[in-house]
This record gives sequence, C-alpha cells and structure tokens, in this order.
Amino acid sequence: TATPAVRHFTDLTAHSAQELRGILDLAARIKAGRRRGERQADRPLEGKTLAMIFDKPSTRTRVSFDVGMRELGGETLMLTGQEMQLGRGETIADTARVLSRYVDAIMIRILDHDMMLELAQNATVPVINALTKLSHPCQIMADVMTFEEHRGPIAGRTVAWVGDSNNVLASWVHAAARFGFRLRIATPAELAPPADLIAWAKAEGADVVVGTDPEAAVADADAVVTDCWVSMGDEEEGRRHNLLQPYQVNEALMAKAKSNAIFMHCLPAHRGEEVTDGVMDGPRSVVFDEAENRLHAQKGVLAWCFGIQE
Ligand code: CP
Ligand code: NVA
Repeated sequence: TATPAVRHFTDLTAHSAQELRGILDLAARIKAGRRRGERQADRPLEGKTLAMIFDKPSTRTRVSFDVGMRELGGETLMLTGQEMQLGRGETIADTARVLSRYVDAIMIRILDHDMMLELAQNATVPVINALTKLSHPCQIMADVMTFEEHRGPIAGRTVAWVGDSNNVLASWVHAAARFGFRLRIATPAELAPPADLIAWAKAEGADVVVGTDPEAAVADADAVVTDCWVSMGDEEEGRRHNLLQPYQVNEALMAKAKSNAIFMHCLPAHRGEEVTDGVMDGPRSVVFDEAENRLHAQKGVLAWCFGIQE
C-alpha cells in the first residue's frame, strides 16, 4: 500500500476550498468547546511534539501555536535559526531529515519561501508555513474565521486591502479564490502586487481588482484590511513611508466603506502610520479577535496536519 501523503500546510493554494472550510469548521467547534470550559477534555495530540523554528521575531504566531499545541495535548520545542546549525550552514534539507526523526510536525517562520518549501519537500512529517516573504496562510485562516464571526459567510462579500503589497495580501488573494469573496486592492503603483499572483487568482476564477485609489477600493467593502508599511526584510527600503502616506486607514477612509464595514489588521500595528488610533480602537475594529482566532484556526490546521480532520 502507498504511504499516505504527508499533510503540509505551506500555502492556501495547495488546498481545496472544501479542505480549508473543513479546517475552519473544526476550528469553530474547538473554539466553542474551549468557551464551554472543555479545554482539557479532548487531547488528540497527546504524545506529539511540534518543533517551532523562528528565524524572525513573532508574538502572536509563537504564543498561539505554543498554547494551541499544548491545549490539544501535545508539546512544543522552540528553536531559532541562529541557535541551530542552520545558522552555520547546515542545509534546510538535512535539517528537515534530522528533525523528522525527532518530532511529529515542524512549524517554520523564515523569509525565504523556497527554503520553507524545501523543508517540506524533505521532511517526512507535516511542515506548517508560519510566514515567509511570500505568504502567511495561517493568518488568513484566522482572518476568514474572524470575518465570518462578525459578518456571516464571506463568499460573495467584498474585502478591501489598502497599503503595501506583501505576504499577508498574497494570502488574502489566495483566500479570495478559495473562499469566493471579492478582493479590491489599492497600493501605490510602485508597490503593486506581483503580476503572477494576480494572474493565478484570475485563472482560479477569483474576482480580484488591483488599483491605486484607496477610496475606490473601500467603496462597498464589508471589511477594510491593512498591514504595516515596512515588513520584515524591507527595513532598508527608505521610500515606503512617502509612498504609503496616502494609504493610511483613518476615520475618513473608513467612512467611505459600508457603514457596517469592519477593520482588520494582522498586527503588529504601527499606530499613526498605516492605521490611526481612532480606527484601531474604534467600534469597527476586530483586530484582537483576529489575534485570538490565530489560536483556534491553527488548532484546526494542526488537527488537519495530524490527520484528525479529513
Ligand atoms: N500576525 C502575526 O503573525 O504576528 P506575529 O509576527 O507577532 O507572529
Ligand atoms: N507583513 C508583515 C506581517 C507580520 C506579521 C511582515 O511580513 O513583517
């Protein structure tokens, strides 16, 4: 009999709409159970260890995976690129082969997307993408969950992205194809999303429109989304603040969206840059629900990787 394929979670593009929906349904059930105090009742990952490799800083991803794994009964191992032989030139492929002999799954945050994929190609245990320069799939699973908690099914709704084009936007584009929502993007022309990303979305039948006008993007939006102007790895690019100033999400821009539009941000926020305090702390902001849902959505992802969720 053939060995069943290892269940990696490297990008939303690698999954069917049905598979992603199954993960979110499970996440919602796990969240509801936790609210009812069933935290310790079901420990499906007892005896399993997740290695967490962080080559870049993290607050939410680190804590939510750690707590999520423990609440499912498993254990975690925190590793940083610099502490590992990876930092001294051991290949990612050999690292994958070695870690696969010790642990049951590997989560990695590393800017080089190809290195994350190479880890997955060479690991015999599931690999989870916890942010690369190109995507942040776990974030957008939590974001879709959050949107739906506040505004109902996301299919057919309109999400506006205003600001830089980055890894988080790329996963929103992937999600637009898989979850069937409209995506309206406004970025400075100089920072437009990659043509191949948009071509992929269109080929998948997604309704994605790219432009440079923030007001046009947010008109009719059910959610307005932004992210930092300077992502990890972009620190040397000095032009960003000037280019992005007109893309700040402030009260005036939110007023152009639907009256019940929510504001979303993966965090960390840079208050006074991409978003004002008034929007971050205002009644339409769901940013801390998004942060919380990282925990629940990733439990769904972990359960899927371990084959508990079909
Ligand atoms: N949103 C997110 O991934 O946050 P961290 O960088 O704190 O993990
Ligand atoms: N776009 C940001 C997201 C951080 C969670 C970055 O890559 O730094």
